[in-house]
Amino acid sequence: MRIAVFEVESWEAEALAELESEHWITYHREPLEAANAAEHADAEAVCTFIYSEIGPGVLAALPRLRVVTTRSTGHDHIDLAACRERGITVCNVPSYGENTVAEHVFGLLLTISHNLTEAIDRTRRGDFSPEGLEGFDLRGRTLGVVGTGAIGRHVLEIARGFGMERLAYDKYPDPEAAERLGFAYRDLDALLAHADVVSLHVPETPETHGLIGERAFACMKDGVVLINTARGGLVDVHALLQALASGKVRAAGLDVLPEEPVIREESEVLRSLFQREYDYRTLLADHVLLRMRNVFITPHSAFDTREALQRILDVTIANLRGFARDAPRSVVAGPVSG
Ligand code: NAI
Repeated sequence: MRIAVFEVESWEAEALAELESEHWITYHREPLEAANAAEHADAEAVCTFIYSEIGPGVLAALPRLRVVTTRSTGHDHIDLAACRERGITVCNVPSYGENTVAEHVFGLLLTISHNLTEAIDRTRRGDFSPEGLEGFDLRGRTLGVVGTGAIGRHVLEIARGFGMERLAYDKYPDPEAAERLGFAYRDLDALLAHADVVSLHVPETPETHGLIGERAFACMKDGVVLINTARGGLVDVHALLQALASGKVRAAGLDVLPEEPVIREESEVLRSLFQREYDYRTLLADHVLLRMRNVFITPHSAFDTREALQRILDVTIANLRGFARDAPRSVVAGPVSG
């Protein structure tokens, strides 16, 4: 199979090289997008991360494409319907970093509850004054987890160790997990009304896009902390800015932002001015968030540990081998399910 790998670091290319005895592989640091897809017209397989945009434009330029493997769990950057229509199989990495992302959630939360960035910045400047650094305990606070899949359950499990009260909401509740981990399901409004900390762990779909907007913020307690490590589009950033300004939200820890692919690189913004349609109002809101003292943003790095990345590559190699051997694995869309 001719495989084109995108958004790839050199150490990842080294790991994927074990496929070279069976396949022709090319490696590309840039994402795959409509503008460069024609350069890869002979690809039968593409392997991407989340900043590639696999939509009708890309698919039209890749007439031989049979399989898309994304080195991520989330697949909202891939137009599944368009792939299905073309008979293209889409594979993901269903689980590789549930503990990893859950650990990052507590990294963000402890950064907020213990004012860690300010405290560390201060001592780096040689200033040991504790003034204004007072934080709050997690013990006894109520955590509301939205989405009790693999990551949400890990978050609930870790929260138990911190002595937090734990509520959860999911469209498809898992009573066995609730029993085993000792948390309680509530509907979304009730969870938002009781939680001191809300952490998001649902995928971004048309149904969940903007789930945390003006109405949801109105339901929340005053002084709530919001953590989002799932997808930027779950939160209406304009409503979040308002909620931060009014004090409804005390602080936010965000690993993901809407329009994140653009915000990652200033050069992307410039390019996008000429090539793509973006929501500039949202982009501006992102930039305001980036500069707020009570907003703590990480660059979509919640999954980024050596162990998790190795698990991603192992599953991706197995996905590509499986497809080539007519035994597709981790299929999220396509003519064959498994
Ligand atoms: P999962 O598929 O195991 O769990 C998702 C949960 O959301 C499921 O329990 C499902 O029933 C629930 N759900 C789906 N639609 C819903 C709706 N409309 N309303 C309420 N609940 C709904 O996924 P996992 O592994 O826990 O990951 C969650 C999300 O985290 C992923 O979709 C991805 O976007 C994001 N993620 C972020 C990473 C990062 O580095 N920041 C890394 C990995 C995943």
